[in-house]
Amino acid sequence: MNKEIKTDLALEQKVESLLAQMTLDEKIGQMTQVRHFDDITIDEIKTKFIGSIIHTQGPTPGNDAAEWQAKFTELQKLALSTRLGIPMFFGVDAVHGQNTYAGATIFPHNIGLGAANNPKLVEDAAAITAIEARATGFNWVFSPCVAIPYNEKWGRVYEAFSESTDIITELTIASVRGHQGLPGQPVSLIATAKHFIGDGATDFGVEGGNTTLSQEEVYERLLPPYRAAVEAGVGSVMASFNSLNGVPMHAHRTMITDVLKGSLKFEGIVVSDWKAYSRFGGTDVINAGVDVVMAVEGDFNMYVDGVRNGVLSGIIPQERIDDAVRRILRQKFRIGLFENPFPDATLISKIGIQAHRDVARQAVRESLVLLKNKNSVLPLKKNAKIVVVGEFADNSGLQSGGWTVNWQGMTENYAGATTILEGIRKFSKGEVVYNKDGSGNDDADIAVIVVGETPYAEFFGDIGGVMNKYQLTLTEAHQTLIDTYAWKGIKTVVVFISGRPLVVTKQLEQVDAFVAAWFPGSEGVGIAEVLFGEYDFKGKLPHSWPKSEEDYQGKYGPNFWDGSIEPLFPIGFGLRYNESGKK
Ligand code: BGC
Repeated sequence: MNKEIKTDLALEQKVESLLAQMTLDEKIGQMTQVRHFDDITIDEIKTKFIGSIIHTQGPTPGNDAAEWQAKFTELQKLALSTRLGIPMFFGVDAVHGQNTYAGATIFPHNIGLGAANNPKLVEDAAAITAIEARATGFNWVFSPCVAIPYNEKWGRVYEAFSESTDIITELTIASVRGHQGLPGQPVSLIATAKHFIGDGATDFGVEGGNTTLSQEEVYERLLPPYRAAVEAGVGSVMASFNSLNGVPMHAHRTMITDVLKGSLKFEGIVVSDWKAYSRFGGTDVINAGVDVVMAVEGDFNMYVDGVRNGVLSGIIPQERIDDAVRRILRQKFRIGLFENPFPDATLISKIGIQAHRDVARQAVRESLVLLKNKNSVLPLKKNAKIVVVGEFADNSGLQSGGWTVNWQGMTENYAGATTILEGIRKFSKGEVVYNKDGSGNDDADIAVIVVGETPYAEFFGDIGGVMNKYQLTLTEAHQTLIDTYAWKGIKTVVVFISGRPLVVTKQLEQVDAFVAAWFPGSEGVGIAEVLFGEYDFKGKLPHSWPKSEEDYQGKYGPNFWDGSIEPLFPIGFGLRYNESGKK
């Protein structure tokens, strides 16, 4: 890997000459990110020199990709009509495919990619995500999440590849390469390593909570993926909602300016997270080293006025503003935005194409972890009578987790996706009965019971958090499904859809086979291919798997770091068909 981050002198000259012409208001505009609705009037794109637009939850820019592109073209024209004509970035949370667009290829969430632990696959998935993001008008994605979860109670465990720093570091490099290409090569979109730093290590797994770690732990465990992302040329890093030893990360000048921009030599953009200006101390956020602020949901005027007054009164040094704008312009020149400011219409035909779905399906297959296979009940026999049980079996929304079309995901099918049941029907040569609520069908040879966690994102998914909707164990309804078939004496296979390991010790004893399937995304068929033995299991646990609820009591929940808790399965565990008797 190219460890020297090379400076492109010609590009730097362009940055300096543009910067020299800019007024304070034009500079603050570049440092501002808003949504394409609500936050600003259309006219303010011009009058406030807006530098970037974010699309996330809320009205879509149009009904189809052509309309999305048209919307962003219209907004871009406004930016180009300003005095200096600096084009805008369009950013999106494409965290497992271009997941804000129904019809895009949706990959397994990162935890599944961590189970597959195949850098080439992660690179391919990221390259496809970049194409489909660009096809819908974007040139900036807020991915990959390079968090290192310490506590399975955290609602964002699935956004991270693994609990292992080494796995995350390697897959981060692959992801940045896939999104952006190799360092030094032409780039058409920038990726974002997030959330800097300590997002997954908060006390008791609270989203946006406080992370109490020593400097040594932060450097040794949490920093390596960022170092790797910077060396791979990542265009941006997002600051995190959490505090580190009491200091909000958005206001943490030591970590952002001294460590990330200083020691790690990061030359890209530090972008804030949602509404960070009002949440984390106003001008302190800018002074800590944040370059672009998501000034959304009512923050816009306060932010722009606050930064302006901060500079005029000397609270924010002019040099800090210039550093921010330099970084923004550098990335805009780097992706050729001045020459090609508009979306590429030829990419629209690539959204959700078979070749992309084939890679997502490969990712599903490789992400599956076989935890039990008593008497080799798997692979399923093609001529067996199979009863498929539970609403998760035939619902692509439920199988995909949060950040799927909507921020909090979907509980019904979405465009282009296939369900697990569809996959089973495709590969079976016998009778397949679907039994959503688990009643009847006593004469089946085998039951495939699909249970798990309904979709959630961010703090909604914290266990024991403010929303208090999720739990460490299966829901009663899902437990009943398993009990029903276990008592009938029918052979049982559980496919477990979840964003994290939960306590399933009892269920593992009850059933004949157990597959951890994470949140597979749009290609449900990939699960059936492995269940029927068309492919062997390849996935290995990306997390240690806790055995009891007591394991979660401590500050770091199931804290396996110090060896005081023995997991039910260690990280790296996963059976294959040809060795499934060995456990
Ligand atoms: C999340 C980020 C995301 C941002 C923009 C925040 O709430 O923490 O991961 O990129 O929203 O949607």
